[in-house]
Amino acid sequence: MGKRTGFMVLMACLFVLGMAATFVAPVFAQQAKVEYPEDYRSWHYLKSMVISEGHPLFSIVPGLHHLYANDIAFQHLKSGKNEPFPQGSKFAFELLDVATTKNSVSTTKNKIVFVTQKDAAFGQTGGWGWEAWTLPGKERIVKDVDRQCANCHYQSTSTFDGIWVKWDEVKNIAR
Ligand code: HEC
Repeated sequence: MGKRTGFMVLMACLFVLGMAATFVAPVFAQQAKVEYPEDYRSWHYLKSMVISEGHPLFSIVPGLHHLYANDIAFQHLKSGKNEPFPQGSKFAFELLDVATTKNSVSTTKNKIVFVTQKDAAFGQTGGWGWEAWTLPGKERIVKDVDRQCANCHYQSTSTFDGIWVKWDEVKNIAR
């Protein structure tokens, strides 16, 4: 093989490798996804809220929801530290359908679980991974993290590190 042919072969190889990297890289980037946290009900309970017609969130999360935090997120929230949540922090927002009868409201079924998980590997806004699953099928519903989740979570300067819940509002309930 002459010098010139060798050079051409080398260039061809580099080109093929380059193309492969272009195609493979986005596949790897997409692989880091938040996993459904089977154990979120054993995390720390934070609070509950009922959203009725007329509330700004009614179109997205009508009904009853509970918030949970894993131990890393809970300890950080409780400490009141004015710095971003540590890696491994997780929050869950569990939405339930309710049936309202004349004088009572009862839970009927699990509807959606929303999760934020601090891990740079997700490469998503704020260093959080954002995901939501419809139940019981556990189908992922987040297609555009910024439009569906982060925009709202970061819209207000009173939300710290993109997280709405504050220790002060849950300190008499959470444990
Ligand atoms: C229109 C605004 C809005 C959008 C869009 C939104 N959220 Fe939230 N989210 C809230 C509010 C407000 C709370 C606090 C609810 C409470 O106090 O009970 C919250 C709470 C949460 C919590 C509990 C931790 C916290 O921040 O208090 C998680 C987890 C969560 N949302 C995940 C998501 C995910 C994932 C998406 C996208 C699929 C999403 N949210 C979209 C407004 C929004």
